[in-house]
Amino acid sequence: MDVFVIEGGRKLSGTLRINGSKNAALPLLAASLLTDDPVILRDVPDLSDIRNMYRLLAELGVESNTEYDDQGISKASLKVVDNSEFHARYDIVRTMRASICVLGPVLAKRGKARVSMPGGCAIGQRPVDLHLRGLEALGATITLEGGDIVARVPQSGRLIGDMVFLGGPFGSTVLGTANVMSAATLAVGTTIIECAACEPEIVDLANMLNGMGAKITGAGSPRIVIEGVESLGGVDHTIMPDRIEAGTFMCAAAITKSDLTLENCPLDAMMSATDRLEAIGVHIDPVDHPDRVFAEDPLRRICKVSCSETLKPVQITTQPHPGFPTDLQAQFMSLLCLAEGNSVITEKIFPERFLHVAELTRMGANIHRHGTTAVISGVNKLTGAPVMASDLRASASLVLAAMAAEGTTVINRVYHIDRGYEKLEDRLSEVGASIQRANEEEVAAMGLMCE
Ligand code: EPU
Repeated sequence: MDVFVIEGGRKLSGTLRINGSKNAALPLLAASLLTDDPVILRDVPDLSDIRNMYRLLAELGVESNTEYDDQGISKASLKVVDNSEFHARYDIVRTMRASICVLGPVLAKRGKARVSMPGGCAIGQRPVDLHLRGLEALGATITLEGGDIVARVPQSGRLIGDMVFLGGPFGSTVLGTANVMSAATLAVGTTIIECAACEPEIVDLANMLNGMGAKITGAGSPRIVIEGVESLGGVDHTIMPDRIEAGTFMCAAAITKSDLTLENCPLDAMMSATDRLEAIGVHIDPVDHPDRVFAEDPLRRICKVSCSETLKPVQITTQPHPGFPTDLQAQFMSLLCLAEGNSVITEKIFPERFLHVAELTRMGANIHRHGTTAVISGVNKLTGAPVMASDLRASASLVLAAMAAEGTTVINRVYHIDRGYEKLEDRLSEVGASIQRANEEEVAAMGLMCE
């Protein structure tokens, strides 16, 4: 298993381009199952989760092929060539929970779907009851057979539009909304999703589906209305930039007290994060592109990130969008470890998402967790140490802490990072960080500790 060896204390400077969003790309790729016409998706990030989704789509009869333009931006061409398969097997689902995204599209298009029930993961239990409740409201019959969810459309052969309430104990569900919205595009009649997720990735999916001929209004608000159509066609769609990657890079500039420029930055979709950064003492200044093309699209801005010498403590509560995203909680915690004073972070989406606390503590952080709240008392410095990546965002928080720490940090199990950040070590190294990917033998040869 690869590790990252990070020398702390390097300043960053230069420009990073924000890639297409992982969490938008996964349901968008799954939506290619809703049509037999060719689908083109641009700026699909090259990540292990995305490669798993291609593998799953291939098993479900989708041919895909990726090319890159001269700026290195991907263009994925997808086409369903065989509609006979309807089973998303445990083999793939266990490697990636987001495989659940194919449930709605396969059910709506092929009349039946069998998807292995996703298990829990490092950030908590993660049930899918709301996905199933939503599809049942559209007339699907759902049974559990041998650990698989088996969903069937009514005897009429199509789902039937209806009122669907997607509220759960922690608010709505992002992928549940994606599943029900995608399935409802091919239902008979009108579906109203109440308490829909308002995340920008849902808006991106609705834009893609509308480009395919769907009739969706209200995406981005808690009430989405979908007028069913008989069939969908092909589309050429560019995936929105990744707001979590952008937030992570903003934290990277801040924790190293550096200046960075971010291109293709979805500022409009990350106001809760930039608001907290400004309160911490990080300046985010949008700048116009010479040809103003980027500046005219609020999701594709260029911005300069700079940081004052002292970081101020803040309070953060994770919430559904437009609140502060749980996917940036760990990265902000690393930053607040070096603030002057006590910060409080409350996690309201995934109450167990605190695996990074113990690892940050190994690096000298002073964090006390009480249930869903962590109190972070700022320290003068962090110190390099061998640490363990436990999930995608926790791993990103360790990279940030390591870049600011005194000495060398070895982060084990970086395959978690590869799930959601494309070539993170290369990109951060290009702007001045010292991050090296190494295998166990190389680490041993360097005389450093590995797992
Ligand atoms: N929930 C239920 N029942 C359900 C579904 C969800 O109770 O049927 C609960 C969850 O347990 C959680 C809350 O509702 O407490 C929100 O979960 P949600 O369903 O919105 O999460 P998700 O759609 O499975 C996506 C992202 C996650 C991100 C969450 C929250 C993708 C592929 N994943 O997951 O991203 O944390 O929304 O914003 O889009 C990540 O990228 O690191 C990541 C984990």
